[in-house]
Amino acid sequence: MPGVTIVGAQWGDEGKGKIVDLLTEGADLVVRYAGGPNAGHTLVIPNKTGGHDKIVVRLVPSGILWPETVCVLGNGMVVDPLALSKELDELVGKGVWTEGDKRLVLSDRAHMILPYHLLVDGLREKGQFAVGTTKRGIGPAYEDKARRNGVHLGALRDLARMERHVARALDAWAPTIRAMGETPPTPADVVAAIRPVVDRLVNLLDDGSRVVDDGIRGGKKVIFEGAQGTLLDVDHGTYPYVTSSSATSGGACTGAGVGPTAISRVVGITKAYLTRVGGGPFPTELNDETGETLRRNGGEFGAVTGRPRRCGWIDLPALRYARRVNGLTDLIVTKLDVLTGLPHIDVCVAYDTPHGRVRDLPINDLDVAKPVYERMPGWTERVETARSLGELPEKARAYIERIAREVEVPIAMVSVGPQREATIPVRNLFA
Ligand code: GDP
Ligand code: IMO
Ligand code: MG
Repeated sequence: MPGVTIVGAQWGDEGKGKIVDLLTEGADLVVRYAGGPNAGHTLVIPNKTGGHDKIVVRLVPSGILWPETVCVLGNGMVVDPLALSKELDELVGKGVWTEGDKRLVLSDRAHMILPYHLLVDGLREKGQFAVGTTKRGIGPAYEDKARRNGVHLGALRDLARMERHVARALDAWAPTIRAMGETPPTPADVVAAIRPVVDRLVNLLDDGSRVVDDGIRGGKKVIFEGAQGTLLDVDHGTYPYVTSSSATSGGACTGAGVGPTAISRVVGITKAYLTRVGGGPFPTELNDETGETLRRNGGEFGAVTGRPRRCGWIDLPALRYARRVNGLTDLIVTKLDVLTGLPHIDVCVAYDTPHGRVRDLPINDLDVAKPVYERMPGWTERVETARSLGELPEKARAYIERIAREVEVPIAMVSVGPQREATIPVRNLFA
């Protein structure tokens, strides 16, 4: 049975959450495979009074709104137990999830973000080498995983043992924390801080890999939900201005505990333009009135930190790069509606670099590369109510077709508004 991976093709916030929510109607299992509460995935769904409700999930998979769907937090994630518990409170309050409902599964091999990870992330971001992180403890938690000082979520089952693991991690962190002028917590402090949420979370622990494998072997339809985006991936992104996890499609295998044969399609999500939050190169960034217009019309403020997102023109070399490193089979373009009213749209088609003009993304020279633009005409008609490509203004259709042609990946869907239904389906991803 097909497994579909949803991956951000840019610097995150492409609208992955909306697409995963929408596709979950036809799926049985949704697995988040990377990242942690640095993600903010926004779902806008119809309510009973004819309006819409907005829900932002950070750790919980975006399939949670569909009551029959099993949602797994995969082993590739880093999970802050306190942040997760808070998110669960919100979902209970909204009637989305009932306390103890086992359709939410926490992989016992996911790593924990503990208070000292948050402390280190926050202190580093005050220094001269800040990356512009979300300060959610992501980097330090993955550092601990790689240096074999991490603490699995499964450790919550035995707090005495957990305290011993935490002591080992703190022994390594203490000099760093002291050098930054702070006092490290004691292992007992750390365990005491999370104790109030332990029973609630232990109840949801399971072997995530087995749950997903059982689903696949039982013919279930599975979505592997990516977080962040290709250009934030620790291997393939704009290093060192990246997150610390494998956000690209390869991360779906290691981060969910399945082999590549479990995945038959890889769907890249891209905005009709480009945004970035935090530091790092962004060659097509617009520091002008047009950039302001994109930010205003697109509501480009971070779902997690509220920071204004940097905005710019679409980058086709970057999307070709995303095709390559993810093996994209399909492309979904979101936020087409945001471009309505612009007199023209500049499309980055190549780069001028110290080594000449290139069509590939010069990932190692992005700070000096100059985008080469081709100008396309804008359109004035609203597109929010379009439900087929034929209902789009001709110039909007030409824009979408150009993206597909240049990236050499077919379009599976176009999103024309934040709401679940503001969508143009083009290809059936579970066929
Ligand atoms: P994610 O992290 O990839 O899930 O994306 P975010 O939720 O962080 O950011 C995407 C934002 O765009 C959210 O506020 C969505 O509600 C919104 N959005 C998604 N698709 C569309 C669309 O087609 N048009 C508009 N105007 N907004 C959209
Ligand atoms: P979603 O899943 C956009 C960015 C941060 C920062 C860098 C490192 O909502 O698309 P981190 O806290 O991960 O160490 O920060 O990565 N970043 C994101 N930007 N969307 C995200 O997630 C992001 N997650 C991390 O802004 O530049
Ligand atoms: Mg987001």
